[in-house]
Amino acid sequence: MNSFEINKIVAAVIITVLVVLGISKISNVIYDKESAVVAYKVEAPEGSTAQVSTETTIDLTSFFALGDIIHGEKVFKKCAACHSIAEEAGNKIGPKLWNVMFRPVASITDYKYSKSLSDYKKEWNWEEINGFLTKPSKWIKGNKMGFTGLKDERDRASVILYLNQNSNNPKPLP
Ligand code: HEC
Repeated sequence: MNSFEINKIVAAVIITVLVVLGISKISNVIYDKESAVVAYKVEAPEGSTAQVSTETTIDLTSFFALGDIIHGEKVFKKCAACHSIAEEAGNKIGPKLWNVMFRPVASITDYKYSKSLSDYKKEWNWEEINGFLTKPSKWIKGNKMGFTGLKDERDRASVILYLNQNSNNPKPLP
């Protein structure tokens, strides 16, 4: 074996090590990204696969302390392209949202929901609405709400307060 061949072997080993290190770096980065967009979730999923897997407990009292209804009304402008909120208003691209808090998911009878929303079988409690609005596509996989979500906690807390307010029977905050 001449020194040229030894050099080639050494180079091959070094390249292999670099590639392996590189791949693990890249997967770390991907993993970090994933965990950065994880939504809050309190309940364990009941036999459903359409769920975010990582779970974090959220202190709802301090979460809602961030919000205010006036700001929520402004945030709702983002939703208003697809949703009405007034009591007498009808469905738009999305279902009407008057009374949405604590009503069963996908329960407006004259609105055609996606299968994934119809099959979800829960109600819009604080945790569910918060998780859904954080990242709709992740919280209920395959639903057809074309909205990326509200990353900002204050925006989310505020719009949830606003939804709760627009009801025949606003619920006391947790
Ligand atoms: C681009 C249109 C669009 C925007 C913007 C949008 N939504 Fe939706 N939304 C939909 C559609 C469509 C559905 C029905 C999803 C399905 O059936 O899978 C839906 C469903 C929902 C539901 C479930 C209602 C039910 O009856 O179960 C809630 C709650 C909701 N949206 C809240 C919001 C809020 C709050 C915002 C603003 C922060 C928002 N949406 C922004 C289109 C939109």
